[in-house]
Amino acid sequence: MEIEIPEFCLIMLVGCSGSGKTSFAARHFRETEIVSSDHCRALICDDENDQNVNEAAFELVHFIVERRLAARKLTVVDATSLEESSRQELRKLAKEHHAVVIAVVLTVCLKELKARLAARPDRHFPAEVLERQFKLMERSKHRLEKEGFRHVHLLEGNNIQTAVFSRRKMRPDWSHVPGPFDLIGDVHGCIHELKLLLAKLGYQLSESEPFEVVPPEGRHLFFLGDLVDRGPDSPQVLRVVMDLVKQGHAFCLMGNHEAKLLRKLSGHGVKPSHGLEITLQQLEGASSSFLERIRQFFESMESHYVLDEGRLVAAHAGMPENMQCRETGAVHAFGLYGKSSGKVDERGFPIRLDWASDYEGHALVVYGHTPVATAEWRHNTICIDTGCVFGGELTALRYPEMELVSVPAERIYYQPGEKV
Ligand code: CTP
Ligand code: MG
Repeated sequence: MEIEIPEFCLIMLVGCSGSGKTSFAARHFRETEIVSSDHCRALICDDENDQNVNEAAFELVHFIVERRLAARKLTVVDATSLEESSRQELRKLAKEHHAVVIAVVLTVCLKELKARLAARPDRHFPAEVLERQFKLMERSKHRLEKEGFRHVHLLEGNNIQTAVFSRRKMRPDWSHVPGPFDLIGDVHGCIHELKLLLAKLGYQLSESEPFEVVPPEGRHLFFLGDLVDRGPDSPQVLRVVMDLVKQGHAFCLMGNHEAKLLRKLSGHGVKPSHGLEITLQQLEGASSSFLERIRQFFESMESHYVLDEGRLVAAHAGMPENMQCRETGAVHAFGLYGKSSGKVDERGFPIRLDWASDYEGHALVVYGHTPVATAEWRHNTICIDTGCVFGGELTALRYPEMELVSVPAERIYYQPGEKV
């Protein structure tokens, strides 16, 4: 039995005393990855069995877990975790640090647990304790998903012995891709300006489908999302970008407008507003295979990527340091929408909060989403959405040269609240 886990996560073991948690953890994880309540008790009072120091021991467990998660280190908690309150404590820490929690429940029958207890020189407690634990465990097993744990693995019998973990890379982790890149902000269907910008950047694009490109030596395009909506020809922008991505000349991440169109293409009800209604008109009569191609393209994308050995982060709406290279729903949502106050302004646009004002991360963050009059560096971040569809410019950042290249919009294609 193979359990795939992201290389950064919190593994919460759940099981009675004697179910084999400590031996299981030692088989699969590095010593420093395991935070054990027994070990923390011993660190405090030299006796791992002394229940009088539980409070301090768990403070220590949580402290270490917290620090490890903040440092983006895989962490395994070796404690019984049979009470909901102790599980919620771990869930809270994981949430604060955007770690996925993987619950692994080890179930061993009561008879076997009792036999193991009797044979252990290092454990001395009455059998009733074990019976109580066993009841809690049986109850816990079926409650975990209700409690909010989305990744639950129930292991029993031979599975406990044969289970293996395979660690996969974090989905936003493209740190092995070094660039150089030409990162392009929100295109929003502005095909004309996109073609002009590609030419200005030195990419020779073919006239017709399938679109092919001759890039400047060694360079790649990197689209920051919001390819679609509001502008004059979103389908054509998609054709160009999807072809270039397919040929390996471009990368693309997901913007909030792709996310919304994806929900629509997947059959969910969405309100056709903020320019989606224009894209849907443009897609009228499109073949089902083209729509399916778009859907699959969008489905494969994250809302941020970490590139060039961690030196560069490309995100649609931004990405604070404590969310980079993590993959919870909150991280994905931040990548799509940024930090929002939850309120809208008089034109119906969400009021956004300035996440970059206190950014101190060492990675350069290049993002779009919020139209700015000019692209400016702030604390190692830059927004290159210069509002082409609103009559501004379409802007690219050459990385690592840090050179901005723009073309002006031919006209105003869209004004908030009206269709042009
Ligand atoms: N054990 C066993 N067969 C297994 C796993 C464990 O006989 N498949 C034995 C171990 O040798 C040990 C005891 O059961 O003597 C408890 O194993 P351990 O891994 O320490 O269990 P934990 O769940 O960690 O127990 P505790 O909560 O008491 O720390
Ligand atoms: Mg143990």
